[in-house]
Amino acid sequence: MRISDPRIVAKLAEMHVDLRPGTALAELTSLGIGGTTDLLRIKKHESLPDLLSLLDANHVPHKFLGGGSNLLVGDGELPWVVLQLVRPEPDVVLDGNLAHVDGAADLGRMITFCAKNDLGGMEGLIGVPGTVGGALRMNAGAYGMQIGSYVREVKLYRAASRKIEVLQGDQISFEYRHTSFAPDDMMLSVILELPSKPFKVILEGIRICNEKRRSSQPLGQKSAGCIFKNPPGASAGRMIDDLGLKGLSVGDARVSDRHANFFVNAGHASAKDMLTLIADVRERIQKTYGVSLENEVVVWNA
Ligand code: EPU
Repeated sequence: MRISDPRIVAKLAEMHVDLRPGTALAELTSLGIGGTTDLLRIKKHESLPDLLSLLDANHVPHKFLGGGSNLLVGDGELPWVVLQLVRPEPDVVLDGNLAHVDGAADLGRMITFCAKNDLGGMEGLIGVPGTVGGALRMNAGAYGMQIGSYVREVKLYRAASRKIEVLQGDQISFEYRHTSFAPDDMMLSVILELPSKPFKVILEGIRICNEKRRSSQPLGQKSAGCIFKNPPGASAGRMIDDLGLKGLSVGDARVSDRHANFFVNAGHASAKDMLTLIADVRERIQKTYGVSLENEVVVWNA
């Protein structure tokens, strides 16, 4: 989708929004898959309500992009523009045990920064790629830890009220890879309350998690992490592996040889290839186990 009306382009500039026409989303996603559209980079949170009113008034559909690390985007010219926050400097400010973090901050860098200041709790999430806003929206978790456990307060753009709102941690429900945020809410910033721990102790926790991750996940390859959520009491990866599906391919979309719930882009996979592979694996699991696997990866398909 292209914004070509000069009046809209001029208004975007007034709102401190940087318009990047014809951006290839394949370059902004960890899977390296995705078509082309206009990217709108937002420098000021406060401009969001006006920006969204402008887009709505001109019938320009939109989607919010975080770090693009848990996302499968459709091929070709995309029928919506993409909005993304520009990361401010600094993106983390500490106040005792509270970390004030911008939604566009990199999750791993934020955890490392807090660790250096003797604040821990999120060691398990160190290798999870993406932004803090994206991690929050999904309640990202690993090795028994999840970001939701540490949330004191969230500032977000609420699609329902069309306003920027502040929610307290206890007003939000954080479940396994799911939150009470609406799909079109945008996470702007968060206050995390982190336990005090000596840097050396946090570092040891990080080292152990990194080792486990390196030995079980295809880290050097293009992927979106786990494709399916684990069904209650079971592991989707183990179920897929037990069916002998590692290496199963559609074009360059391939079930990882290392972890069967990671599907990798081994070259120039299209979204169509990846979606066909996902549907095929889901069907085989359904037939064998009678379980319908739910996507963990977010799919933006036209
Ligand atoms: N397993 C296999 N074959 C495989 C993969 C796994 O037999 O190909 C077995 C493992 O040996 C293990 C069990 O299945 O006994 C569970 O595997 P693992 O420890 O890798 O955990 P997982 O349930 O597959 C979850 C999260 C990961 C997270 C890890 C570590 C989900 C869907 N996945 O994976 O998160 O990194 O635990 O905590 O919840 C993600 O969210 O994208 C993600 C990768």
